[in-house]
Amino acid sequence: MQILKTEGVKKSFGGLTAVNNVDFDVNQGEIMGLIGPNGAGKTTFFNLISGLYQIDTGSIVFDGVKISGRQPYHICRHGIGRTFQHAKNFPGLDIRENVMMGALFGKKGQSRKQAAHEVDDILEYVGLGGQGHKHVPDLTLAMQKRVEVARALATKPKLLLLDETMAGLNPTEVEEAMVLVKKVRDSGITIIMIEHVMRAIMTICDRIFVLHHGARIASGLPDEVANDPAVIEVYFGQSDDSEGAAEAKTAETADSDKSAESGES
Ligand SMILES: Nc1ncnc2c1ncn2[C@@H]1O[C@H](COP(=O)(O)OP(=O)(O)OP(=O)(O)O)[C@@H](O)[C@H]1O
Ligand SMILES: [Mg+2]
Repeated sequence: MQILKTEGVKKSFGGLTAVNNVDFDVNQGEIMGLIGPNGAGKTTFFNLISGLYQIDTGSIVFDGVKISGRQPYHICRHGIGRTFQHAKNFPGLDIRENVMMGALFGKKGQSRKQAAHEVDDILEYVGLGGQGHKHVPDLTLAMQKRVEVARALATKPKLLLLDETMAGLNPTEVEEAMVLVKKVRDSGITIIMIEHVMRAIMTICDRIFVLHHGARIASGLPDEVANDPAVIEVYFGQSDDSEGAAEAKTAETADSDKSAESGES
């Protein structure tokens, strides 16, 4: 069953078309990867789905309801949670209070007491149990990313949008993040993940959608996408790799390019 469907979605900033006529769909329970070079329009696409930006043309339907044109808090309460590429934790608050913001924002009528109870469960769930008193500036990048995920989960999403939650993590932390993403999906939450860490994308995604200059250039199963000439062309500037080499090359190059970065692109 499709949980999200976009048709002809377009967004321009002045003369720049950041998202160009994108038809996209995700099925309930999938982990969908969203990849593409820097500036491809991936984050903008998340901003359109979550209502932070309004689409110029097209439509976005989520869980049977047209959400394009709605405000972010409506969309959040309808069941779409998200993280931000550039972590948007509240630096003056501790971990618990950060996650509490999600619990209070996402669910109408939630009392502070109910929210506080849920927050402890969520912190435990994402591996931050017993650490709620710590402040964001004192956390490792991996922990900050987990706080982002925890806050998004606290809004009780049916669909979770993860924007580069593995960027800048070391290989062990990436493995741990992959385990968490799969656990979230197995709990019944559909996931779309933007990621440059190809090893993670290729391993845990059911399908992958590739954007370039705002438009879809490929989509399908991980193996299909990794061997797609258009994808190879965009990532490596050539399309004559021998079969199978593309996937290995994609994984190695993207991992060394991106996972070594300490910040975000
Ligand atoms: N608010 C904005 N105003 C003007 N231009 C924008 C805005 N947001 C994004 N853009 C432009 O839209 C294009 C797509 O940007 P976007 O951030 O969506 O790319 P991305 O695929 O997420 O890239 P990255 O992998 O580097 O995060 C870029 O050229 C960017 O400069
Ligand atoms: Mg981005």
